[in-house]
Amino acid sequence: ALLAPGAGPLAGRHAIVTSGPTHEAIDPVRYIANRSSGRQGHAIAAALAALGARVTLVSGPVALPDPPGVAVRRVESAREMLAACEAALPADVAVCAAAVADWRVAAAAGQKLKKVPGQAPPPLALALNPDILATLSAHPRRPRLVVGFAAETEEVVANAIAKRARKGCDWIVANDVSGDVMGGRENAVHLVTAQGVEHWPRLPKEEVARRLAERIAAALA
Ligand code: CTP
Ligand code: CA
Repeated sequence: ALLAPGAGPLAGRHAIVTSGPTHEAIDPVRYIANRSSGRQGHAIAAALAALGARVTLVSGPVALPDPPGVAVRRVESAREMLAACEAALPADVAVCAAAVADWRVAAAAGQKLKKVPGQAPPPLALALNPDILATLSAHPRRPRLVVGFAAETEEVVANAIAKRARKGCDWIVANDVSGDVMGGRENAVHLVTAQGVEHWPRLPKEEVARRLAERIAAALA
């Protein structure tokens, strides 16, 4: 249920949430993407809004409806996602739940690539995308609380602890994406903070979002 304006533990707070995959163009009709559905990020945006926050949801291409009471900025590429996040600053909290493509095509073609008989397939040279979570964590207008996700298929907690240090964020929500998590309805996560690691049970993504939003409200109180 939506609260009356100005009510709730996050009233007066601004939250930026990234969600979904990014699409990195190969040419005007093709792109590189990943299996992210945006379900977890969108649920977090909805949960923060339900606690009274003003929420800017920066979303890659997803097939989900806009969460109620949330300002949605639609983007395609990682570079557009970063620009939209920076344009949304200042914020009290940023939650980077998007599955940002680590690489883009170094030189996307302006016209559709064509098969030429007898010619080898086009080589796809890649370039590193900006890291939105690391950029926000080191930003002159850094949100007070910066939360990242860690998508891992092995050594989930150890990788997440290392990732937290590397990115400079406050918390990492670590999830094992080796099973059916990406695109699925449930998530089993571990919350990694400076205080240690909490193992949460496997829960619907909406419930992970509600718990995380409550933790964020407590941290900003
Ligand atoms: N992230 C980001 N910008 C990127 C890459 C990742 O903001 N260009 C964020 C994701 O939204 C997530 C966190 O960084 O919150 C970790 O993403 P993940 O893919 O797990 O980590 P990487 O640092 O990209 O490392 P790797 O994919 O090699 O494990
Ligand atoms: Ca990555």
